[in-house]
Amino acid sequence: MNRTRKALMIGIALAASACVLGGALRRPFQEFHTPDVVYVGTPYDVVSAMLRMARIKKDDLVYDLGCGDGRMVVLAAKKYGCRGMGFDIDPERVSASRENLRRNGVEALVKIVRADLMTLDFREADVLSLYLLPEINEKLVPQFEKLKPGSRLVFHDYGLEGFKPDKTLHVISNEDNMGHTLYLYTTPLQPISDPADANGAIRSSPVSRHE
Ligand SMILES: C[S@@+](CC[C@H](N)C(=O)[O-])C[C@H]1O[C@@H](n2cnc3c(N)ncnc32)[C@H](O)[C@@H]1O
Repeated sequence: MNRTRKALMIGIALAASACVLGGALRRPFQEFHTPDVVYVGTPYDVVSAMLRMARIKKDDLVYDLGCGDGRMVVLAAKKYGCRGMGFDIDPERVSASRENLRRNGVEALVKIVRADLMTLDFREADVLSLYLLPEINEKLVPQFEKLKPGSRLVFHDYGLEGFKPDKTLHVISNEDNMGHTLYLYTTPLQPISDPADANGAIRSSPVSRHE
């Protein structure tokens, strides 16, 4: 191999490695911040009530936004045979959820992803479940507004201020003996023009025991 050809080949090799390295460095690197809401699991009887309220069907794709230990998507897959995805920013919650999938044999139906909810696209989902705080729910509205028509959103304890729920349910869990308020919305979301339209306050007190 003459010197010119050898120099050319070294040049091509160096350029190729620079491209590979450059591509890797350009790949978006997601920094994770601390959770916006601390972990508190929804009692299982309340999870069941939320799934019933959302009228889950076998062909639904259910997303739990801030999935904790994955109980919502695990129970949805076990009870209804539907697919699910759980998202959480906390790596410990992600590991706990994946362990929960393994224990319950639903790994083929459910996936768990470490992600910041604010960066996600929810358009594939038929049902979203949330147990977050009102200000976080509110920040997610632009993402909710892109959902397919007829998608259901079910919220635990804090609904979507400024929007009219289809249904509000007050339950008392047999597990913690505490009151829980559930809110169901269907897309397109209906803004509240008249405050009397709110179908119950967004934070209200429990009135009935859940069976
Ligand atoms: C109140 S817990 C609800 C857990 C579960 N959905 C349930 O109902 O049992 C809220 C969860 O949201 C997660 N979380 C908080 N901020 C988040 C964010 N920005 N992105 C993803 N997950 C987040 C927390 O780590 C926590 O597990």
